[in-house]
Amino acid sequence: MGHPLWPIRDLVVRTPVLELRMPDDAELCALAALARAGLHTSGPYPFLQDWLTLDTPDYERGFYRYHHSVIAGLRPEAWNLELAVFVDGEPAGFQGAFARDFPTLRVADTGSWLGAGFQRRGLGTEMREAILHLLFEGLGAETAASASRIGNEGSIGVSRRLGYRENGRHRITFGDGPAEEIRWRLDRAEWEPRRRDDIELLHLTPCLPDFGLVGDQPAS
Ligand SMILES: CC(C)(COP(=O)(O)OP(=O)(O)OC[C@H]1O[C@@H](n2cnc3c(N)ncnc32)[C@H](O)[C@@H]1OP(=O)(O)O)[C@@H](O)C(=O)NCCC(=O)NCCS
Repeated sequence: MGHPLWPIRDLVVRTPVLELRMPDDAELCALAALARAGLHTSGPYPFLQDWLTLDTPDYERGFYRYHHSVIAGLRPEAWNLELAVFVDGEPAGFQGAFARDFPTLRVADTGSWLGAGFQRRGLGTEMREAILHLLFEGLGAETAASASRIGNEGSIGVSRRLGYRENGRHRITFGDGPAEEIRWRLDRAEWEPRRRDDIELLHLTPCLPDFGLVGDQPAS
């Protein structure tokens, strides 16, 4: 039986090589340790928040509390869906998607990270394709957006490989200070030719109200 109160806990996006879903408590602790062990390996500091301090001096506790606050704060009018990435059942990182007023705008942004040992194996591309499938196929998005700090070649590489177009550059504040970021945009018509038929969306229908999609049906 599905979760009686919070169906989004059961949501799974499955590709032939990885799975996206909410982590349980033990998995979240494992992900905190993975993040602590290192996820920013080369190039400029990639995140907007200062992940090294979060809201407590204790990194893993801060990480754990942050993810619980994200789950608790998920609202239909402004959602931030942080799904853990599992490779052969092992927690490998996070793939997020977030949106405001999604039923009207049909635009969602994405963000992600992988533990250092999981990077540069094509997984970043695969998990982005998985979340794009959820957004376009499952939730009826019209546009997916993303952003990369200039010099973050992994993030830039994933967006370029998946056909995103550059959508302006902005100077913003990262965790270590101000820098330029590239905004990326992928519209439905650009995604359609790349639509995959080997990505499964499991237990999506009961979650639709949590994305603000009352009365909608998954597009697939
Ligand atoms: C961003 C991230 C998730 C990408 O995942 P990944 O699994 O390493 O990326 P992939 O293996 O799918 O590579 C995608 C492309 O980027 C290139 N690339 C990846 N990392 C790179 C690096 N460090 N330097 C240069 N090119 C890189 C790959 O060669 C590939 O290019 P190709 O299409 O020409 O073959 C990962 O690098 C990461 O977790 N980085 C730290 C956190 C971060 O920066 N998050 C994004 C914040 S917006």
